[in-house]
Amino acid sequence: MRSFILSLALPLANAFTINVASSGGNATSGKQYGFLHEDINNSGDGGIYAELIRNRAFQYSDAYPLSLDGWRPVGNAKLNTSRLDEPLSDALPVSVNVSPRKSNCTPRRGAAGNGNIGLLNEGWWGMAVEEKTYTGSFWVYGGYEGVFTAELRSDLEEDVVFGSVEIESEAQEGKWVEHTFELVPESNAPNSNNTFALTFDPAGLTDDSLNFNLISLFPPTYKNRKNGLRVDIAEALAQLHPSMLRFPGGNMLEGETNKTYWDWKDTLGPLKDRPGFPGVWGYQQTHGLGLVEYLEWAQDMDLDIVIGVWAGLALNGDITPKDELQPFIDDALNQIEFIRGPADSTWGSVRASLGHPDPWPLHYVEVGNEDWLAGGDAGWESYQEYRFPMFMKAIREAYPDITVISSGATSDGYDIPAPGIGDYHPYREPDALVEEFDMFDNQPIGHIIGEVAATHPNGGIGWDGDLMPFPWWIGSVGEAVSLIGYERNADRIPATCYAPVLRSMDRWQWAVTLVQFAADPKLTTRSTSWYVWELFAAHPMTHTLPAEGELDPLFYVSGTNEDKQSFIWKAAVYNTTDHADVPVSLSFEGVEPGTKATLTVLTNIEGDPYAYNDPHEGNNIVGSTVTTVEAGDDGAFEFELPELSVALLDTAQEDVQARDTIDAREPSKSWRA
Ligand SMILES: *[C@@H]1O[C@H](CO)[C@@H](O)[C@H](O)[C@H]1NC(C)=O
Ligand SMILES: *[C@@H]1O[C@H](CO)[C@@H](O)[C@H](O)[C@H]1NC(C)=O
Ligand SMILES: *[C@@H]1O[C@H](CO)[C@@H](O)[C@H](O)[C@H]1NC(C)=O
Ligand SMILES: *[C@@H]1O[C@H](CO)[C@@H](O)[C@H](O)[C@H]1NC(C)=O
Ligand SMILES: *[C@@H]1O[C@H](CO)[C@@H](O)[C@H](O)[C@H]1NC(C)=O
Ligand SMILES: *[C@@H]1O[C@H](CO)[C@@H](O)[C@H](O)[C@H]1NC(C)=O
Repeated sequence: MRSFILSLALPLANAFTINVASSGGNATSGKQYGFLHEDINNSGDGGIYAELIRNRAFQYSDAYPLSLDGWRPVGNAKLNTSRLDEPLSDALPVSVNVSPRKSNCTPRRGAAGNGNIGLLNEGWWGMAVEEKTYTGSFWVYGGYEGVFTAELRSDLEEDVVFGSVEIESEAQEGKWVEHTFELVPESNAPNSNNTFALTFDPAGLTDDSLNFNLISLFPPTYKNRKNGLRVDIAEALAQLHPSMLRFPGGNMLEGETNKTYWDWKDTLGPLKDRPGFPGVWGYQQTHGLGLVEYLEWAQDMDLDIVIGVWAGLALNGDITPKDELQPFIDDALNQIEFIRGPADSTWGSVRASLGHPDPWPLHYVEVGNEDWLAGGDAGWESYQEYRFPMFMKAIREAYPDITVISSGATSDGYDIPAPGIGDYHPYREPDALVEEFDMFDNQPIGHIIGEVAATHPNGGIGWDGDLMPFPWWIGSVGEAVSLIGYERNADRIPATCYAPVLRSMDRWQWAVTLVQFAADPKLTTRSTSWYVWELFAAHPMTHTLPAEGELDPLFYVSGTNEDKQSFIWKAAVYNTTDHADVPVSLSFEGVEPGTKATLTVLTNIEGDPYAYNDPHEGNNIVGSTVTTVEAGDDGAFEFELPELSVALLDTAQEDVQARDTIDAREPSKSWRA
């Protein structure tokens, strides 16, 4: 690690001398840092949504035909998808039929010698099994006397069962009957190559087969929500100290066509009433992580939300004509009423009936997503001509306090009408993020940064070049410089969202995300960017403060947290001349000599700008040094920062203790004993 010197005794030559005034800044939202989540490549289903069973309800669409994907027969069973005259529900018309094979062939592995037959699920490319209480359920159609056996098994070693439970049958002929159970494994599985099996004794059948549907298994979830979030992934996000969640997209909101977008109404209520939809990322989605689940997520992590409403543009370029738009505006108003209307309003009462009488807070509504992109010129023109203005007018009339966000920025060529604000999505090389540092400085119209990440290496390969394999150090420093630029304009930039936030190591194309995961929780990995965002997010400013001083290659924003009566300074150092350290002399008007502050400096312990945290290596290349610095006789804090570092200075003394109690500075792989 490059060394850096703290509290120098002598005045620094060529120091960046920064004088922060005690007034003259602007109020911030205090909610700058967050992320976008949509179900991009199994970051929802198979990701943060904790369901362990893949293809649990045989959902399908024109794009993704019905299949038994994820399922295998157990024992002497034959599996077939089937459409009963009496489906489980309109939303879930297909079930799996399980019958004993007529021929007298050798029982398959898994029959456990007891003659049981059934089916097993491979999970989302495996299943973690730990000594915890798993909650399961399944629906059965057909008569059966006996017990069902639910098991978590090894997929590598024959007959290794980690946990098993018998469920008394309540199945009846001619009727769908739900069964629920709890399963507590007696031991932890050594790896995630496990399956879930559900079997029964064919001797107990009344007829010749049974149908099953909506076979579900959840481990304990984040904050113990029913139908909730996977704990280790949710905790990795909560520990980021986020304050903003933008959902449900993103492209997923738009859908491939104007018949297959994310319709919030399809995501409500019992799972058996959620049809699923094709999404836009190459697989059928369940709708399990629905609107209520997103809102519970926000509530449980104390996040403000930016909700995207469907605005008449799909990815294939379907544009809703002006005279057909009103139903979609009404639908957005209903959605807003569902979220924050009183419990006796039409849609507020639906929310109340789903167990949430109290409204959720909602201050930001975004109209569509990237409307400058999918529909070409026609889409973008229709957005400016009628789609955005009509949505904004209707939303503001009903909810004057809601900030309505255009899905494009002024830099996308839209003179956004007041009181709307814009949304800017820079996916960039680190150099470009640094070049854009001052982009919002004299920009009168507000924006959110609804999606941002360093994605491509420096060197002009550009958008069509390869993504980096993971967030990498110089990219994360580039993000820090942009974040500082946004926070300097925090009066007009109420939110900044990393995107996309999660990546399944088993199913991806888009590699650069804050957190990576797989079925095996040991692979859950905080990226280099996670550490940078965490540091800035953990120190919210209520007001910015003007600062005098040079910029580049040291970039900074100063402010105060009035609740803590503290001064805060966030900084990043990009490329320096000859890789030299940068001396800093930092004074705050009103800070007396002898005042103490906490200085946290993140550096790259590998010294390689391309270094990254690799889930399979379990490494953490982000070094963090926390020291106490003291203002000298002239009231200035003096220290040096190395090239490609990210720094935070905070005079709040309680932060020193608070930071000691979180694990953010621990190597992300503390589980690796
Ligand atoms: C406060 O906001 C105004 C208007 O947006 C801007 O001109 C000024 O630079 C801001 N001050 C600081 C310290 O950011
Ligand atoms: C599965 O059921 C369908 C009708 O539902 C039938 O056409 C098909 O032959 C069956 N396949 C098997 C392997 O039994
Ligand atoms: C076990 O699962 C891991 C992924 O969790 C996979 O990489 C590995 O190939 C699996 N092992 C076997 C023998 O299937
Ligand atoms: C859906 O897209 C089609 C084809 O572009 C268009 O004709 C139709 O008006 C659209 N309908 C709605 C409701 O957006
Ligand atoms: C900064 O240094 C990196 C190499 O570490 C290089 O790729 C990049 O182009 C440099 N950027 C500038 C603006 O000098
Ligand atoms: C998502 O996964 C599918 C299937 O693995 C793949 O074809 C597709 O390219 C992926 N898309 C993204 C955006 O990662």
